[in-house]
Amino acid sequence: MSAFDFELELDSLREKSLLRRRKIADSACGPEVIVDGKPVLAFCSNDYLGLAAAPEIAETLATAARKHGVGSGASHLISGHHRLHEQLETRLAEFSGLARTLTFSTGYMANMAVIAALARRGDAVFSDALNHASLIDACRLSRAEIHKYPHCDVAALANQMAQSSAPRKLVVTDAVFSMDGDIAPVAKLLELCERHDAMLVIDDAHGFGVLGDDGRGTLSHFGIESPRIVYVGTLGKSAGVAGAFVGGSTNLVEWLLQKGRTYIFTTAAPPPLAAALIKAIDLVEHGDQRRTHLQRIIERFRTTLHTSRWQLLDSQTAIQPLIIGSNDETLRVADTLMNEGLWAPAIRPPTVPAGSSRLRISFSAAHTDAHVDRLIDALHRAESAAH
Ligand SMILES: Cc1ncc(COP(=O)(O)O)c(C=O)c1O
Repeated sequence: MSAFDFELELDSLREKSLLRRRKIADSACGPEVIVDGKPVLAFCSNDYLGLAAAPEIAETLATAARKHGVGSGASHLISGHHRLHEQLETRLAEFSGLARTLTFSTGYMANMAVIAALARRGDAVFSDALNHASLIDACRLSRAEIHKYPHCDVAALANQMAQSSAPRKLVVTDAVFSMDGDIAPVAKLLELCERHDAMLVIDDAHGFGVLGDDGRGTLSHFGIESPRIVYVGTLGKSAGVAGAFVGGSTNLVEWLLQKGRTYIFTTAAPPPLAAALIKAIDLVEHGDQRRTHLQRIIERFRTTLHTSRWQLLDSQTAIQPLIIGSNDETLRVADTLMNEGLWAPAIRPPTVPAGSSRLRISFSAAHTDAHVDRLIDALHRAESAAH
């Protein structure tokens, strides 16, 4: 018998209702999509401002591709760094109010670069228990001691930091938690970092574009600026395209350029994507109407949905998790909704802790009141049927 018995392993996942299956989309990202050949109303994407299919961005991308070609041909430090990448970095720095930024192909890669370049063996990384997988993996990659602190528990973190004698300390957190939708206590985390001469890595994948003045993100939302903060913003969610950036002091960003392995050892993203992103940032900056509409949709959902068996988490952001509990029941509810043409993804372990399987309902500025009401009605029916 081989040590690699995938059939057995897959069977075991199937038995625990943990087998994942992809649905195939045949339409652009948006609320009304064609999935597995059927029209459905989707509440799953991170396209919070409804920009993923914006014609202006598509047009900019196509024009740039015709002018500059598609591939960058090499990594940034060899010959792949195009003028458009440089312009995007400048635009992102100006928009976010950061001294300098560096762009990456994905948020996952940005997090890998940051943590592995800032912490090494012997250092200590303090990581929120509900951080995104990319931060968890990045902490492991750094080989630093990892201290997981209970979710948003500043007192527990203070204790852990006080007990650590590591020469360099890094606190790492999602700004808006990807599966819970709540917002990290950034000011208090920063205070602790100042007390302990630590750096604070803020992963604002779900706040950038949505929170703060003109969508500048969670730091703007709280009015916080500090040279101790390493800011990560992703560009495949609210900005509607792909990629990510890291921002901070000029020297910090230069250090990442020199040492960030997922920046150095990978082909630079296609330059036309950078052009598309510059257009996307303009739309984000002038997207107050979209943000106001999104906020209204969230309020409508939260004030109209009434559940007794399931629990809607206390989230003010576009991520509205409905905790169902068991894997089985979560899958059943997601299937029931799907049969009615509504798509809200079932999220199970290991993405979320065991026993807290949920529907991760996410809203976009492209949703209408009628879309939200359809979802609420279907959830009310599904909950009555589950009793
Ligand atoms: C909090 C958080 N950080 C990082 C990422 C990774 O970003 P990307 O999808 O651009 O790799 C995600 C989601 O994908 C996320 O939710």
